[in-house]
Formats: sequence, C-alpha cells, structure tokens
Amino acid sequence: MELYAPSFIPPDTIDARQHPARSARLSVDADTFVGNFDKRPFYVRHELADHPLLQLPAIAALSQRLPENLREWNTEKAGALAFTRPDTLKTHHLSCHDTILRVAEEPARVLLLQIEHDPLYKRLVDELLESIEPLSERMRPGMWQRQGFLFISSRSALTPFHFDPEYNFLLQISGRKTIFMWDPANRYVLPAAAIDDYYAGFGRDPRYSNREHAYRDEFMASAWRLPMEAGQGVHFPLHAPHAVMTESDVSISLSITFRTRRSKFHAMVHGANAHVRRHGIEPPAPGTSRLWDAVANFGYRAARKAGAFLA
Ligand SMILES: [Fe+2]
Repeated sequence: MELYAPSFIPPDTIDARQHPARSARLSVDADTFVGNFDKRPFYVRHELADHPLLQLPAIAALSQRLPENLREWNTEKAGALAFTRPDTLKTHHLSCHDTILRVAEEPARVLLLQIEHDPLYKRLVDELLESIEPLSERMRPGMWQRQGFLFISSRSALTPFHFDPEYNFLLQISGRKTIFMWDPANRYVLPAAAIDDYYAGFGRDPRYSNREHAYRDEFMASAWRLPMEAGQGVHFPLHAPHAVMTESDVSISLSITFRTRRSKFHAMVHGANAHVRRHGIEPPAPGTSRLWDAVANFGYRAARKAGAFLA
C-alpha cells in the first residue's frame, strides 16, 4: 500500500512504560526461504502470542494514536458477498477502539494500516524484518519501506480478493485463519493490466485499486489453501492475489511487509506499461526485457517529474 499519512505521532500520547522492550524474531528455514521466496507461499514460526503490543487492549490503544485514514473497521455481515463485494461491508456502530475490544461479542473486521507510524510498533516491525533481511538480501537486495498492518477479526470475517505491492509475511498471533492465495504469475486470475493500472494510479480510488479486480468463482480451483494458526506465519510473494477467511471467534494477525530495489524499479515499469496499454500496445512485462525496463523506468520517472501524468 502506498504511504498516505503523516509520519508524526505526538510522543506524549504513548506510554512506553507499559510496553517494556522485548525482542521479537521469526524462525525461518534458510533453504525453504531460498527455494520459495517471491515464488510461492511457505510457513515461518514465531513466539508472539503473548507479546504485550499484540494484545487487544494494546491494539485498541494503538488505534487511538493512528490517524483516521489508517484505520478501517466494519461489521462483518456481508458473508460470502464480501469475497467479491468489499463495498457491501457495513460501517460499525462502535468506535474503532471499542470495536477491537468487543470483537468477541460483536462481529467485526478491523484493519490498522502502517502501524510503523507509531514508534513502539515500528520497533516491533523492524525487529521482525531483521530476521528476514539477511535472507531476502541474497535474492532481492535493497529492503526498504518496512511497514506493518494489524488485522483483528471475528469468525467468518473475510478479507476480500486483492493483491499488494509488497513482499509480505502474515503472522497469526491469535486464533485461526485460512488464506486463499494464487500464483503471482497466474495472469488469468490477475491480468498484467490490473497490476499496471494500480501503479499508474488508475481506478475508482487510486489508493485501493489493488482491491478492484473482480473475483470469479472459477478462480478457487487454482487457489493454494493455507490454514494458519497461532505461532505460524505465511509468506506472500509480491502481487500474489489472496483472500483470507477467519475461522475462530477472534483472530489477531500481524502483517510485516517491505519493498526492494527491484520492486521499486519495476513499479515504474508497471506504471509506464499502463499508459502504453491505453494506446493499444501490449508492453513487455517488467523483468522480461532489459531494454524496455530501462526505457520505461526512465521515461515514467521523467514524465512524473514533469507532471505529465496527473491521473
Ligand atoms: Fe493483502
């Protein structure tokens, strides 16, 4: 997700004394990582279930420190419709803070975005990604834009079908979920144009056009089904489409994400490709033509700098 919030949170709204430093790390098998990273999902392990920052009261307090545009909370009444129609989710009658605290009693789906804007959670995200960085540097050097997202949900809550512009590890802190994920190279499930349009800022709401590509029932036949319980985490390759179903009364998940030099470079190529496609030309996908990658990246950067694309 793109940055779209101020990074400053008044320090006097945080009581660090309630959250003494505690180290956090992931257990990752190096061979598994090297064989699968950015190609297909694989599991990692963690011991975050009793981490003080990942309990509902601490998360509810965090929700009050985050800017309004970094919080989403809904009632979860849409059921299967939410798989294809995220707009059918209903606004919750409680505040975000109270929705989190009462998630066991009142069905809800809460998303706190870019929690690294809060210094306490930034430290947690950094510590966890430091378990990943030595391995990811071997394959995709230049880790940057480390971000974190918290998901609090009740039974049957569904995160609709979408893709993300980051490398992701989704860590299950409490409860159970099933992840439905598709091969990031599957262009039937996710056409190249959908990715390109996202980077070009096309779509009804440019911030969320990664959520706009329509889900179809026949996609399910090619989905990877990945059950996840507390203590486990799953890797999401860049752009791998996914949807997530909660299967316990309460679920808490933490997503730690990052980008790399290559994903940053390719983002510009994707953006250029969207504009080229609008002229009826099918451009080479990023990574398939070094010449086109260089031309598209340079041209797109220059055009954006000159204000040529205001869409
Ligand atoms: Fe996602």
